[in-house]
Amino acid sequence: MKVVTVVGARPQFIKAAPVSRALRRYGKEILVHTGQHYDTSMSHIFFKELNIPHPDYHLGIGSKSHGAQTGEMLSEVERVLLTEKPDWVLVYGDTNSTLAGALAASKMHLPIAHVEAGLRSFNRRMPEEINRVLTDQLSTLLFCPTTTAVQHLSSEGITRGVYNVGDVMADALQFNRKLALDHSNILERLEIKPKEYLLVTFHRAENTDVDHRLENIVSALNHLSKPAVLPLHPRTRNKIKQSGLSFTNPRLKVIEPVGYLDMIQLEANASKILTDSGGVQKEAFLLNVPCITMRDETEWTETIEQKANILVGSDKRKIVQHAEHFQVDFSNVKPIFGEGNASQRIVKHLIKPQ
Ligand code: UD1
Ligand code: UDP
Repeated sequence: MKVVTVVGARPQFIKAAPVSRALRRYGKEILVHTGQHYDTSMSHIFFKELNIPHPDYHLGIGSKSHGAQTGEMLSEVERVLLTEKPDWVLVYGDTNSTLAGALAASKMHLPIAHVEAGLRSFNRRMPEEINRVLTDQLSTLLFCPTTTAVQHLSSEGITRGVYNVGDVMADALQFNRKLALDHSNILERLEIKPKEYLLVTFHRAENTDVDHRLENIVSALNHLSKPAVLPLHPRTRNKIKQSGLSFTNPRLKVIEPVGYLDMIQLEANASKILTDSGGVQKEAFLLNVPCITMRDETEWTETIEQKANILVGSDKRKIVQHAEHFQVDFSNVKPIFGEGNASQRIVKHLIKPQ
């Protein structure tokens, strides 16, 4: 069995690592990196830390408008598929790299397997929502992380090839938790103490590209009364610079994006997490850390239902207030993201004759 895997952005490297490890025991994987993320701290560090094999093809597409980026990826992935003629094309999540991989495969009548299928925010202004809806439409195998995701697909009439396998990010976290404990000294480097700081991340276009939302979030962070750490996504760094805003809170440590092991340590030891990231919401839940989500809606609705996560949008008052007071009782929380064996389950389906 030969699989072409298409990845390009930070969360896809993390998701692909456990699947790739499982896959290579049974078949041949050709790894394609579109180049969507290219800074060392957004790409190379994950390949190194997570022992992801060197990409067989690096397309080097880089940052561009949505159309140009997706279009160039489509054309380059097609060239790879023509050469490799795989049995499956494997894509992850909801980025432009996901859609380009799926489109290229579908036009060549190659079957697509989509990991993290069925996620919906029901907000069509999010580029990710368009990418995931279209990718799900084109996929033969749809690997859902949750029962909610299966239900979303069912309500769109997609029931064939749908499997609830759990979340591959739970696999990645389980595998790397101890490694992070043993190898990361980020708390010492930043001179912060366990449970005495907030961890903050934000990069969603809806927050960085809408002036009043960006202003509100930056202002809220400038008003935090507790120590906080912000590994800053390059998109956010650029937008803040362009808009003339600045971080003025001496309690806020703004740092470069960190590797996955440092990130797990930062998450696990934070008193609370403030984020607009999909992956970070899940990791907060899995690590029993209260999560405050700076969005108006989330795909991970189960975390909200279980009161482990709360939506605060870009409301400055709510962000500051919840950073101070939001509390979660994790003793009654039920598991959402499977048992940490999603990768093996995915590979079992891929090697089964269809
Ligand atoms: C992309 C995904 C988003 C995902 C995020 C993960 C899409 C539409 N969006 O958003 O779903 O949550 O990745 O992090 O696919 N940049 C750099 N260096 C890099 C990468 C990006 O400086 O290595 C800067 C560039 O200015 C670029 C901007 O960040 O224009 C945005 O990058 P892009 O990949 O287009 O989108 P993300 O916001 O990273
Ligand atoms: N992450 C990381 N370093 C950082 C920020 C995030 O390793 O500085 C990890 C995080 O732990 C999670 C993933 O990146 O596993 C989430 O990626 P991101 O927030 O970029 O994208 P999203 O999940 O929102 O698509």
